[in-house]
Amino acid sequence: MTVEAAPSSATASSASQGAKIHPAWVRITHWVNTVATVVMIGSGWEIYNASPLFPFLFPKSITIGGWLAGALLWHFAAMWLLAVNGLVYIALGIMTGHFRRKLFPIRPRDVISDIKAALTGRLTYEDLSVYNAVQRLFYLGVIIAGIVTVLSGLAIWKPIQLQELTALFGGYEAARYVHFFAMATIVGFLVIHVVMALLVPKSLRAMITGR
Ligand code: HEM
Repeated sequence: MTVEAAPSSATASSASQGAKIHPAWVRITHWVNTVATVVMIGSGWEIYNASPLFPFLFPKSITIGGWLAGALLWHFAAMWLLAVNGLVYIALGIMTGHFRRKLFPIRPRDVISDIKAALTGRLTYEDLSVYNAVQRLFYLGVIIAGIVTVLSGLAIWKPIQLQELTALFGGYEAARYVHFFAMATIVGFLVIHVVMALLVPKSLRAMITGR
C-alpha cells in the first residue's frame, strides 16, 4: 500500500499539472459510499413514513422500496455496503496518514477566514490536493455523522442484544431521534457538497479520474 505524499502547501498548483489528487482507494470508497448512502436515505425515508416522528411524511416519489417491508430489505442490504465500505475507508484513512494530512489541523481562525473568503468570492480552488478549512470541517463532520448514524441504527435494530449501545443513546425512542437528525445532517451536507462539486467541476473530475 502506498502512503500518500504530503502536499507542500495550500498554494502549490499540482492539481493543474495533472498530478495525482485522490488515490484509488479514496475514489472507490467515496463512490461506493455515495451509492450506499443514497439507498440508505431513500429506504430510510420509506421506513420513517410507516411510523413518523414528526408531523410530515417524505413524498413517495423520493423514497425507495415501495412499502415498509421492501424499504427494510433495501435498508439492511445497503447497510452492509455502507458499514464495510466505511470501515475500509476509515482504516485506510488512519493507516495511510490520509486523515492526518488532509483533514487536520482544523483551526477555528482558518475556518472563519475561509468562510469570509467564500462569501466574498475570494476562496480559490487552485490546488485540489489540499482541502481548505471549511472543507476539512465538513468532511470530518460528515464522517462523524456517518458513524453516529450507523451506531444509532444498530441501537434501534437490535435494542435487546445491543442494549448497552441503545442505553448510550438514551433508550430506543431517543436513538430514533438521534438516527433521524444524523440522517438530516448528512442530507444537509450532501446538498452543499453536490452544489460545490458542480460549481467546481474539476474537483468532480479529480474524484472520478484521480487527477
Ligand atoms: C453525487 C454525490 C457526490 C458527489 C458529486 C461528490 C463529490 C465529491 C468531490 C468532487 C470530492 C472532492 C472534493 C474536492 O476535491 O474538493 C468529494 C470528497 C468527499 N466526499 Fe463526496 N460526493 C458525493 C457524495 C458524497 C457522500 C454521500 C458523502 C458522505 C456521506 C461524501 C463525502 C465526502 C468526503 C468525506 C470527501 C473527502 C474524501 C477524502 O479526501 O477522504 N460525498 N466528494
